[in-house]
Amino acid sequence: MNQEIPQEELADLEISFTLNGCQVHVSIKPWETALDIIRNKFQLTGAKEGCGIGECGACTIVMDGKAVNGCLILAAQLDGRTIETVEGLSSNGAMNYLQKAFLDKGVVQCGFCTPGMLMSAKALLDECDRPSKGRITNALSGNLCRCAGYVQIIDAVEEAVAIKLKDAGDPAENR
Ligand code: FES
Ligand code: FES
Repeated sequence: MNQEIPQEELADLEISFTLNGCQVHVSIKPWETALDIIRNKFQLTGAKEGCGIGECGACTIVMDGKAVNGCLILAAQLDGRTIETVEGLSSNGAMNYLQKAFLDKGVVQCGFCTPGMLMSAKALLDECDRPSKGRITNALSGNLCRCAGYVQIIDAVEEAVAIKLKDAGDPAENR
């Protein structure tokens, strides 16, 4: 006979992972999601809970280089992984190339979707220096925005590519 164990009787789990470059150790409940603990235990509130069911992308974080929905990942799955959130993009208060491009193109309106968009774009640009428009569109296809036009968001990622290449000294971007 299947007997349900009350939640309060389930033991906490101990996990360790790298969060925005720092090694962290945390005690979690077995049912908590990655999004729960990133927001509630580490107070990194950039990733948002929009739908909670993998539809909107507002909760996007980067896990081992891939953009994932924090609402669909159990916190236990973070053990041993490398996690990046939007808070890790800037350095000493200076915006990174993606943040600059999003600002330049005026794509941040209510801003609810922006952290997720940035992290999906980051995962793409870490993997590919010169993604095509089609590839950018595909990478952002899981991120919904109810305010700004998607055209401007894709333009912003293209501008970010140019800024990144220029910063890296690409002659084609320095003409
Ligand atoms: S909150 Fe995770 S996809 Fe919507
Ligand atoms: S800027 Fe409001 S949802 Fe995208």
